[in-house]
Amino acid sequence: MDPDVNPYSMGAGNPPPALTGRETQEQQFRTLLARLGGGLSDRSMIVSGLRGVGKTVLLLEFEGIAKDAGWTAPRPIEIKSDTDFRSELADAAYQALLQLSARKALGDRLRSFAGLLRGFKVGAPSDGSLEFSFDPDAVSGSTGDLERDLTNLFEELGQTAREHETGVVFLLDEMQFLARGELEAVAAAMHRMSQTKLPVALVGAGLPQLPGLMVDAKSYAERLFAYPKLGALSEDAARQALVVPAAAKGVSFEDDALARIISESGCYPAFVQAYGKEAWNHAPDSPIRDVDVLGAESLVLAELDEEFFHVRFEKATDREREYMAAMADIGEGPYRTAQVAERLGRRPSYTSAPRDSLIKKGLIYSPDYGQVDFTVPKFSPFMRRRYPLRDDDGTSA
Ligand SMILES: Nc1ncnc2c1ncn2[C@@H]1O[C@H](COP(=O)(O)OP(=O)(O)OP(=O)(O)O)[C@@H](O)[C@H]1O
Ligand SMILES: [Mg+2]
Repeated sequence: MDPDVNPYSMGAGNPPPALTGRETQEQQFRTLLARLGGGLSDRSMIVSGLRGVGKTVLLLEFEGIAKDAGWTAPRPIEIKSDTDFRSELADAAYQALLQLSARKALGDRLRSFAGLLRGFKVGAPSDGSLEFSFDPDAVSGSTGDLERDLTNLFEELGQTAREHETGVVFLLDEMQFLARGELEAVAAAMHRMSQTKLPVALVGAGLPQLPGLMVDAKSYAERLFAYPKLGALSEDAARQALVVPAAAKGVSFEDDALARIISESGCYPAFVQAYGKEAWNHAPDSPIRDVDVLGAESLVLAELDEEFFHVRFEKATDREREYMAAMADIGEGPYRTAQVAERLGRRPSYTSAPRDSLIKKGLIYSPDYGQVDFTVPKFSPFMRRRYPLRDDDGTSA
């Protein structure tokens, strides 16, 4: 059928035509806003899950929910290994202020904020928009200590928001890439918010190691945040994710076709979208049949190899690739690190460096002590298919 009107969304962070199966998390978020807005305390959220389960699009959904609830929500901040967190936060705080002042003139508050933000340089680019970025030479309203500054900033924002009968929610994506000191600062600032019951919420999203990193940073983070985990969709939610967007265009699926997508995709959102998209393109007309899904399958796999798996693989060095090939060679995870070392014929001391750097890069994580697993669902069959473990003489092991 016509690819021009194909409703399915492929690609990281692209909102799906129907976001399904996340009602619990959405409700939890609504409750959080309602309670904080009513002067009660509640736990902010740290959402974690594997690659492609829908963390980014859930944050975008939260942004919309917050705005509908009359809250102020700056755009989600995507943390990268080289992100200047302070300056990104300053930008977000500034966006929040602008949104707040659009509701009601800020007057005196804005002036007191200027004092607080004195440590942040104001630049006026030629397009006339204002931009805040941290200027280490102009620290006067800022102490230079991130934990203290962030706490002050949130407190000030929270009080301003409360006076305007609203709240501010910060959304942080790929939060596992924050440095330890930055995680400590976030926890400390949110701790203060919970003590003062100010309407500032935070939702962080990241890979499965994120909750552990957070609690390592500040032990009280365990009780301070709620830690919802995102996984594959339920079969019913996966079915809805396929059927609802098609129905909106007068297209239906035969039951066999749906059943095949559900089983082949494992109900992982990214794979569900990929199958939906290619089955649509492959089908001559409605309904989409099982043969269409079968016919689309090789294209789906080729596309996923390139767009979902290979981009991750490319981030790894030769030694890291060898480590991942050894993991995959064992079968399905989780893997004992000692077993991976054994498969490589190396001492564990040799393999700890590639393991640690793979964890830092977000390609693998440690689900339990002495264990590792891939952060990308179905990565091990990809490795076996495309990059099998080789013997020293270059042949497949
Ligand atoms: N609840 C859902 N229902 C239907 N489709 C979804 C859902 N959640 C995510 N998707 C789709 O799955 C794909 C992956 O979503 P997203 O990029 O948000 O995942 P992610 O967890 O942020 O992945 P990564 O860790 O790689 O950043 C997108 O195409 C998105 O539209
Ligand atoms: Mg994402």
